[in-house]
Amino acid sequence: MLRKEQNEYVTRTGAGTPMGKLFRRYWLPAIMAEELPENDCPPVRVKLLGEPLLAFRDSKGNYGLVDEFCPHRRVSLWFGRNEECGIRCAYHGWKFDVTGKVMEIPSEPDDSPFYKRVKLKAYPLIKVGRVLWTYMGPPEHQPGPPEFEFATVPDNQSFVSKRWQDSNYLQAMEGGIDSSHVGWLHKATIESDPLFTKTKGNDYTVADPKPVFEVVEQPSGLYIAARRNAEGGKYYWRITTWIMPYYTQIPPRGGHPVHGHFWVPIDDENCWTWSYDYHPTRPLSENEVAAMDNGEGIHCKVDNTFHSYANKDNDYLMDRGSQKSGKTYSGVEGFAMQDASLQESMGKIVDRSLENLVPTDMGVVMARRQLMAAAKALTEEGKEPPGVQPHTHRVRSASVVLAPDQAFKEAAKDVLVVRPGLAHASV
Ligand code: FES
Ligand SMILES: [Fe+2]
Repeated sequence: MLRKEQNEYVTRTGAGTPMGKLFRRYWLPAIMAEELPENDCPPVRVKLLGEPLLAFRDSKGNYGLVDEFCPHRRVSLWFGRNEECGIRCAYHGWKFDVTGKVMEIPSEPDDSPFYKRVKLKAYPLIKVGRVLWTYMGPPEHQPGPPEFEFATVPDNQSFVSKRWQDSNYLQAMEGGIDSSHVGWLHKATIESDPLFTKTKGNDYTVADPKPVFEVVEQPSGLYIAARRNAEGGKYYWRITTWIMPYYTQIPPRGGHPVHGHFWVPIDDENCWTWSYDYHPTRPLSENEVAAMDNGEGIHCKVDNTFHSYANKDNDYLMDRGSQKSGKTYSGVEGFAMQDASLQESMGKIVDRSLENLVPTDMGVVMARRQLMAAAKALTEEGKEPPGVQPHTHRVRSASVVLAPDQAFKEAAKDVLVVRPGLAHASV
């Protein structure tokens, strides 16, 4: 559990809060590259860490992420005209470039002091893989671009989707590092979903509902390992990677693509759940991409505002018959909404002072501790947080079977880092 003040500390990411300062030291996924498909295309509203912003792509292909609101009289620049290398406000025609510099104030003479005095807030926006990333922190601390493996493989080896989640980022992320729920909530779906089915790892997951957790620090966050019984006295290990402050890699299953999430605060009560799949050594097959497009695996069918069709207003299309028959464990279809239905049911920001944590929650406990410790060290001592440096992103999740006397951290150490040209270790 967390005391109420600790819960406040770790869940609030607005400007000026300790956790907000921490998040602002990392590149954050802002929007999918496909949302700005061509030069001078319509701009896209996006709220991140409580800040309303507008992404646009200018006539030369430069990306910009600026304050959504015009510094003249604060109307939304979303209504503006994206033309001739800038976004022009629809109200009185003020125009800004991707860096937020004022290009034109039509009512003013060319030498008006307002050209120097006024600036539109702007953050860098860069394309790495299929995602446009932004950095909202102090410019002098801006790190090199992200090096997560899913974003550095060729585009035909990866797939990315996102959905709006009606909860604080932390309870969503805690679901991603809690692999003890998989053998319960997802137990039927791991067998029926085309992107998970028919692996030995599934058999181990379902057969042993009492995983033993070992959590080990790594330079950018944690390795969170769940140990289950395999045959012959051996152990099946599922090792999840958590990279601070928001990124997780799920341990792979058989020859399926590897997947994971990042959870990015929209504001304190909502977050973007990003989901990615990739294969380190081969293009995704047509069938795999079709399944992902269809909302299978960890993805989900969404409308054009990225809200899921199954949502709390329709009880996530709960099917009690399917719950009773065991076709799904909870009655909700699909990994994404199975997770989101329960995480959103906790309320916007769950009251962690009411929890009763057990040993299988060790990964959750350690991730909270690391987040709070990093925010404290940053804000009180100016210490750079773990996971900021891009080379520390080059770690992998893994699933392996090991002899009972082998420590996972030692025995699996070679497969827990990115090995170019070699596939993930997967069972
Ligand atoms: S409010 Fe934007 S130009 Fe006047
Ligand atoms: Fe889940």
